Amino acid sequence: MTQKTWGGRFQGGTDDRVVTFTESISFDRRLYRHDIQASQAHARMLAEVGLLNASEAEQIVTTLDAIASEIERGTFPFSVELEDIHTHIERALIERLGDLGRRLHTGRSRNDQVATDVKLWMRDAIDDLDGRLRKLQLALLAAAMREREVVLPGYTHLQRAQPVLAAHYFLAYLEKYQRDRDRFADCRKRVNVLPLGAAALAGTSLPIDRESVRRQLGFDIVAANSLDVSSDRDFLIEFVFDLSLVALHLSGWAEEWILWSTTEFGFLDLPDAFCTGSSIMPQKKNPDVLELIRGKTARVVGDLQQLLVLVKGLPLAYNRDLQEDKTALFDAFDTVAAELELAAAVIREVRLRRESIAARLEEGFLDATTLMEFLVAQGMPMRAAHEAVGRLVRLCEERHVRLADLPPEVFESVRPGLSSGVYQVLGVQNALRAFRSAGSTAPPEVERQVEAWQARLGSSERGL
Ligand code: ARG
Repeated sequence: MTQKTWGGRFQGGTDDRVVTFTESISFDRRLYRHDIQASQAHARMLAEVGLLNASEAEQIVTTLDAIASEIERGTFPFSVELEDIHTHIERALIERLGDLGRRLHTGRSRNDQVATDVKLWMRDAIDDLDGRLRKLQLALLAAAMREREVVLPGYTHLQRAQPVLAAHYFLAYLEKYQRDRDRFADCRKRVNVLPLGAAALAGTSLPIDRESVRRQLGFDIVAANSLDVSSDRDFLIEFVFDLSLVALHLSGWAEEWILWSTTEFGFLDLPDAFCTGSSIMPQKKNPDVLELIRGKTARVVGDLQQLLVLVKGLPLAYNRDLQEDKTALFDAFDTVAAELELAAAVIREVRLRRESIAARLEEGFLDATTLMEFLVAQGMPMRAAHEAVGRLVRLCEERHVRLADLPPEVFESVRPGLSSGVYQVLGVQNALRAFRSAGSTAPPEVERQVEAWQARLGSSERGL
């Protein structure tokens, strides 16, 4: 009997270069627990349908457990000669059980096996990511509560636009990560469809019971079409797309905080533990963690590209190209998982530089839009009000003053009677209090949202 699981029809050995070129054990060994879990379910099912007897199935199950602990302890020998994790485990079983080990692969192929293993692995990965995203949300919620009374300049085009509560700012990211969580939960539905039993591509003539395997492994349904499921990687591409969106959310935020930590912005001090120094400039404290969160996003997006190009033009059903799905999958997951962990840690530690933010808050006419809306509320057409406030801003720029510094006669010249109420909406604090729409930065609205998130995430300030 040859070392290979497929040696029967071959006479010569495999070229050494082919062995190293085609192996996947170097990266798919991390599927070992899920491979064993799926094989145990398969063995039990084989006993249920009479292709094994009950004690044979139990022997296989126990021996697979022993193999799992060896792999866990690091004493299991891996070799590129045995291609992949599936072959390694099956070979080890045969070494221990002889002909009984040779029965495990009955009614299945590595094609449905690898898809099943990856799906089991991804289910755990999704649950793990959900926990990490939730922790990040809790860190953001804690920051929203900690900094709730701080007013920030809000930007569009990176130009000062309108004032926003810091709590509103932090909750904006909570929303984004909630959508990410929802996307993973939705992806999980397509992950949770059982491939095993599709065999190589067409199913099997043996009397297997896929429903039993489905039940044992906790899949929602059995895949309906063997050709489809043995070639399907949609769920995996979708997952890496979902990871890419998380990475993009993190990257935008990282860029923002890199800017905020500069002398020019002065909005926050990054914790020392998350920065590094310069080998030549003694004063430097560089935001490397944030820069690498931004930088590693390129890898994740690259992983997505790899997968999209990988499946382009593949005929049905399984093609060996699909082995390359795992490098992208694992890399994207590992990168995003680490980023989420670090982002939550940074957010927990960071404190806004309140005086520095407040000192320049009246710069940039953050109250101009509120003034315009005040004119509209007094009956002026919106376009006319826009024009009028635009002229007032220009006047302020000439005089080097704020809108609130303009004398009453200037406002009277815009609209008689205006000067009486106008000072109540001028200045950033007044402008902020003037907001009222749902979903806005209006303080009562933000407060309502903080409470809603507390209830939703099941957290109290103490618990954070
Ligand atoms: N290592 C392979 C993969 O990851 C397992 C499936 C191999 N199937 C085959 N017919 N060679 O895709």
